[in-house]
Amino acid sequence: MVTQAQRWVVLKFGGTSVSRRNRWDTIGRIAAGRMSDGDVRVLVVVSALSGVTNELLAIANGDDVPGRLAGLIERHRGFCVELGLDPDAMLGERLAALEALGTDARAAGRPLAWQADVLAQGELMSSTIGAAYLRSQGHDFGWCDARDWLDAIALPNQSEWASRLAVNCRRDADAGFGTRFAAQPARMLLSQGFIARHADGGTAVLGRGGSDTSAACFGALLGAERVEIWTDVPGMFSANPREVPDARLLARLDYAEAQEIATTGAKVLHPRSIAPCRDAGVPMAILDTERPELPGTRIDASAATVPGVKAISRRDGVVLVSMESIGMWQQVGFLADIFERFRRHGLSVDLIGSSETNVTISLDPSENLVTSNVLEALAADLAEVCRVKVIAPCTAITLVGRGMRSLLHKLSDVWATFGQERVHLISQSSNDLNLTFVVDEADAEGLLPQLHAELIRSGAMPVRAAGVFGPSWRDLAVGRPQRPASWWVGRRDQLLARAAVGTPRYVYDLATVRDHARMLTGTAAVDQCFFAIKANPHPAILRAIAAEGFGLECVSLGEIEHVFAHVPGLSPRNVLFTPSFAPRREYEAAFDHGVTVTIDNIEALRRWPEVFRGRTAWLRLDLGHGEGHHAKVKTGGVAAKFGLPLAKVDAFLDAARDIDLRISGLHAHLGSGIDDAGHWHGVYAHLAGLADMIGTVETIDIGGGLPVPYAPESPLFDVALWRAGLDEIKASYPRYRLVVEPGRYLVAEAGVLLLSVTQVVEKDGVRRVGADAGMNALMRPSVYDAYHGIHNLDRLDDTELTEFDVVGPICESGDVLGHGRPLPAATAEGDVLLVADTGAYGMVMANTYNLRALPAEDILDEGGIE
Ligand code: LLP
Repeated sequence: MVTQAQRWVVLKFGGTSVSRRNRWDTIGRIAAGRMSDGDVRVLVVVSALSGVTNELLAIANGDDVPGRLAGLIERHRGFCVELGLDPDAMLGERLAALEALGTDARAAGRPLAWQADVLAQGELMSSTIGAAYLRSQGHDFGWCDARDWLDAIALPNQSEWASRLAVNCRRDADAGFGTRFAAQPARMLLSQGFIARHADGGTAVLGRGGSDTSAACFGALLGAERVEIWTDVPGMFSANPREVPDARLLARLDYAEAQEIATTGAKVLHPRSIAPCRDAGVPMAILDTERPELPGTRIDASAATVPGVKAISRRDGVVLVSMESIGMWQQVGFLADIFERFRRHGLSVDLIGSSETNVTISLDPSENLVTSNVLEALAADLAEVCRVKVIAPCTAITLVGRGMRSLLHKLSDVWATFGQERVHLISQSSNDLNLTFVVDEADAEGLLPQLHAELIRSGAMPVRAAGVFGPSWRDLAVGRPQRPASWWVGRRDQLLARAAVGTPRYVYDLATVRDHARMLTGTAAVDQCFFAIKANPHPAILRAIAAEGFGLECVSLGEIEHVFAHVPGLSPRNVLFTPSFAPRREYEAAFDHGVTVTIDNIEALRRWPEVFRGRTAWLRLDLGHGEGHHAKVKTGGVAAKFGLPLAKVDAFLDAARDIDLRISGLHAHLGSGIDDAGHWHGVYAHLAGLADMIGTVETIDIGGGLPVPYAPESPLFDVALWRAGLDEIKASYPRYRLVVEPGRYLVAEAGVLLLSVTQVVEKDGVRRVGADAGMNALMRPSVYDAYHGIHNLDRLDDTELTEFDVVGPICESGDVLGHGRPLPAATAEGDVLLVADTGAYGMVMANTYNLRALPAEDILDEGGIE
């Protein structure tokens, strides 16, 4: 019978968690806390003090044995003193045993059994010290020797080395195991990770990372409630946070996903530790010793299945072997033949890609690949049956997550990111958990942050799935920057009153527009800011922005005429015309208005020389790459219609000279919604270098494209970083006037779209809220899969929420404003919905499709509503 006292929680603490006194205080606190909540007993499994196992390994290899032993003895005595313990009384016996190993008769021959005894000393000492310290602090802790409980088992084909120094442990407990273990008197027990009993009665060790596995085996044998792995990071992340600071904490995983992530890169949990818990149905948690209050990563069988990419990882040093054979087609035994040769050279194959004439396989980096000439020997051997090419070093980039097969359509931008690199091999596993790309190691530099952002943007990594993803590493490291509450929260009554007049309706808050304008005008390096009026040409907004000292950037003659009509006293010097494939008469009219004109192709000069003869204009360049929140807003690179390619600059300048056209400015706008705060400073540097060559340039315009944090997980744009980058680069090239021309940044967050709920409908399990306008009023979600927050303004404080798709009344399946949005369960006909951050590219892109009326527009200003 399982009594209350036999419910166990196993806690494992690694080297850094046991090497300081304050960490042991934490261990004591955590263990006591676990015991008090739920009447369980606690087993703590510890590693050796940090660095000790490395020293012991050197000793086991016979390297400076006396010196290293002396060092270890001193280190552990010192640690006892730090903990206020008497080293002789408490650790004397163990230190003597450690010393004796150095003079042991076996030391000369270093048999494996002796090596295991040496390696085991680290855990034996740390656990002895820890148990004594915890007892001295009043905790009821007993100590037990893991070797009395964990038995090494022999596996078929195991080398002698592995059967002593990298063992597996028995996980099926005999009938009396639980009772015997529970018979130990202390309520809490401390034992060692990494060590086990060999069948011959001697010591065996589990190999590197073995402490996690020990804890998992104890958990399985005891049928524990939980195994908690306490470490120095807050859990498993969606990517290595050192490489991708925006990596998200994975709050919940199933065993298979955790296994895949641990195996393909994450170092935080040893891959071998998952199977024991999975097979015994014991939940696992990864937690941060420094910050025990954080939720960590939970791994169990009942994790809800949320399809999507959970993590992305990379393995460097991968070797590809490409084997070409014309004789392979339908030839029986070809693969058997080549794989036999890999076996012969002791190489284990990881990924495989094959076509009719080629088989390409990958080899993970391993000791013998680096230290021996095994590859050469293998290649020579294979050359007997095929043409061999070794491609190295490569990097394998793996996307891990459930339901990979059904996600491929969401990965188009991810493919595009890879598209610029040479992908040697793609492999998708049939367990539907893993998609791996192999590229040259050099090409993988800087790729992961980009891919991670793309996965989130495309929806392939479902970071909004409640309970699955936690905060980002960056937010955990610096504390999540508090987002200021949106302006509309405080204007709710006013907005409801406007909605009562009629919906759909855009409402803009001028104070927010001014705030954003001032964020940019305060930048010392920037000589002039233009507002790209295409984002929102509402006259009151244009006047407010012009009053802040901004010029206005126009893309059409219509916009030019609009600004002169609505902004009194506007000087043509403050108007910039940046057309795209505009008709000739728009250029003529622009010159007549006296505004600055930007040209982006040679053909215009050649066809209409008289339009440009003797004029001064700016040249818009395509720097060869585009950026932005979606492929459709990237305005650089071969796929984009904008800008003169760099290869044609000389020809353009010749053509300009022929018609006496003077180029006084260089311009590049490479996309919209660019997260990388360093982008603009790079554009300035590039353009300034070109300007130096051209000679007539006075002004450099680095475009717009500043991002807006639409989604809850979007990082806030770091204006200070943007400024600092511009200040720095301007200091290097001070001779040019620096111009920027953002649109979205000034107006997006200032606008909301108010809609009325028409119907609430459930169909095949999907609940939909219908609104009186959809893609006709706001195109961004259907065109760019853009995210906008959607709120029920009538029921802002409701806490009972249900997921709804929010749809419009347009006869298109793409008429969806948001998928799976948590909205009040009580949402009903007549409620007012607020679609947030719609001040940019909202009303101006609205249309009358299905002959639905355009939305109304209101301006909120200090004086009230305009
Ligand atoms: N300058 C030029 C030459 C542009 O083409 C644009 C935007 C801007 C400046 C302003 O970019 P912003 O700072 O607003 O990102 N409808 C899309 C955006 C299209 C942007 C077109 N050009 C959207 O809703 O995301």
